[in-house]
Amino acid sequence: MKKIAVLTSGGDAPGMNACIRASVRTALHFGLEVVGIRRGYEGMMDADFFEMTSHSVSGIIQRGGTMLRSARSERFRTKAGRKIAHANLKKAGIEGVVAIGGDGTFTGANVFLKEYDDIAVVGCPGTIDNDLIGTDFTIGYDTAINTAMQAIDNIKDTANAHDRLFFIEVMGRDAGFIALRSGIATGAEAVLVPESQTSMDMLIETLEMNSQKRKKTSSIVIVAEGDQAGGAFKVAQEVKKRFNDYDIRVSVLGHIQRGGRPTCMERVNASRMGMEAVKALLNGQSDIMIGIVNKNITFTAFEQAIKHNQDINPVLLEMVEILA
Ligand code: F6P
Repeated sequence: MKKIAVLTSGGDAPGMNACIRASVRTALHFGLEVVGIRRGYEGMMDADFFEMTSHSVSGIIQRGGTMLRSARSERFRTKAGRKIAHANLKKAGIEGVVAIGGDGTFTGANVFLKEYDDIAVVGCPGTIDNDLIGTDFTIGYDTAINTAMQAIDNIKDTANAHDRLFFIEVMGRDAGFIALRSGIATGAEAVLVPESQTSMDMLIETLEMNSQKRKKTSSIVIVAEGDQAGGAFKVAQEVKKRFNDYDIRVSVLGHIQRGGRPTCMERVNASRMGMEAVKALLNGQSDIMIGIVNKNITFTAFEQAIKHNQDINPVLLEMVEILA
């Protein structure tokens, strides 16, 4: 293998830059040429390629976002789009790709590799959602939970000052990891996640118990964006219908969770994954995602990584109830 490319695709995540930097510098270390692909699969289909040197990735390890930019590509879902992408890679002499992204990115790579086996693709898990099998944490997750935690801490100050009940919505379309961790870390009264059914009766019972028995005058409920009950505004509305005397506010944290300086843990893990992705390409591997499980590097087939969501640890959900 003489030439590889690096891309970021799907929702950006803090730490992606550290991963790009590590992939580029590892590849250069082993004598490979490196090409950057802008805007993920969109750039692959537009041949939006540029040569990367060690200097190209200087000063990016501490920055959020992605220097390669990102996109969610509809065109790459089509056979015609993938054919153009393949032709562009071949024309540029690219033999391997490090794809940094989440389930959409790896689904695309997996379909592409079923059609074309003369280019290798190795993935690094980059998504704040932490919703991939085969790694204890995805790139972006640690920063996102810390960002959410700090924002919730701020909201708690004002909630306490006014004796209010806050419903705070955090990201996670299909997964409750951000909600659960940030909820535990901020002492939330309840956490609603897509992985478990939300019972309005139980939620109200918990709130009642906290205000009456535990003499709490303010409460925080964390709602994952993808919760089956329909998001923070919907849940707040339901609670208000039954308990009009609660002074309720809703706050949606949104994309603030996707940006910002990556944490130390993020930078180190992302760097490790980027380095291992290049080594895996050099070892002839393809169609796999790099992960870190129990501190060790693991390889998980794309098909496996994307098919099953990680299970939420029920003990952590229980913790919320006991410790609130
Ligand atoms: O996949 C990460 C994520 O931040 C999800 O938590 C969220 O639902 C989604 O991306 C938002 O995507 P977009 O920025 O494209 O609206």
